[in-house]
Amino acid sequence: MKVNNGIVEKLKGEVDEYLKDYMKGKGSYNKRVYEAMEYSLNAGGKRIRPILFLLTYMLYRDNYSEVIDVAASIEMIHTYSLIHDDLPAMDNDDLRRGKPTNHKIFGEAIAMLAGDGLLNEAMNLMFRHCIGRGQNALKACSIISESAGAEGMVGGQTVDILSENTEIPIDQLYYMHSKKTGALIKGSIISAAVHASADKQDISKLGYYGEKLGLAFQIKDDILDITGDTAVLGKKTKSDLDNNKTTFITTYGLNKCREMCNSITGECMDVLKEIKKDTSQLENLTLFLLNREK
Ligand code: IPE
Ligand code: IPE
Ligand code: MG
Ligand code: MG
Ligand code: MG
Repeated sequence: MKVNNGIVEKLKGEVDEYLKDYMKGKGSYNKRVYEAMEYSLNAGGKRIRPILFLLTYMLYRDNYSEVIDVAASIEMIHTYSLIHDDLPAMDNDDLRRGKPTNHKIFGEAIAMLAGDGLLNEAMNLMFRHCIGRGQNALKACSIISESAGAEGMVGGQTVDILSENTEIPIDQLYYMHSKKTGALIKGSIISAAVHASADKQDISKLGYYGEKLGLAFQIKDDILDITGDTAVLGKKTKSDLDNNKTTFITTYGLNKCREMCNSITGECMDVLKEIKKDTSQLENLTLFLLNREK
């Protein structure tokens, strides 16, 4: 992932390294579940959420290494959501991050357990992070765990599943996108701001930024499902069509979705510019996400 300069690359490398080390040598009779967790975790995701978390933290604090464990937990939660999303009972996909999906290698039972294991490991990491660190760390981790739950990602995934083979009203479509993808993206951003003791105004602006970015990100994901190249994307295209999902594309059409992505990205850029900190890295990343091919 090239975002103009080395900082994003460097953060991605550090998150990759942390996750690789974290899983090393774990397990005994339960080793298979660690193998399955590690398989998906280290298969080569973009690491957007931990990078957003770290870049936001860096608006206020230099020493981002002290929160890399929290960044890694966010990626564990995200990876768990992908493993479950690909299961036959959900989107029934065979390819993820350029490799066979978790259940294709480990079977459905172990894939479910690997997802559960990653979610719980994320909670373990965040609890350990909070010990002795005070209110802001606790608040930040609570924002992250809430963003993954039934009022967040799980809620959005529920509406996504219920939207198969049926039309859903526009307000539910927005709910679905803002929760299934937006919640964890927004949560990654505001939790970092809260952890770094940003003032209320900044937290509110960053919340708005996160909401818009999450929406643009999922609309782009829906676009790539139609226009993307499986070899680049690392996941099968036309998955939404095959599952007869309601998406932004089925509701608005491709051209309108492209326009929406552009204009929402514009709103993201505008609100970032209102923040009196050096937001240039977040701006670069935002534009990169608009133009991504994977
Ligand atoms: C894919 O997320 C699933 C969505 C929430 C849209 P990413 O596009 O961030 O996938 P990875 O982590 O890079 O594989
Ligand atoms: C998934 O949305 C969002 C998650 C919470 C995993 P999609 O089902 O569109 O994600 P992809 O396209 O399979 O990555
Ligand atoms: Mg899905
Ligand atoms: Mg899917
Ligand atoms: Mg998709």
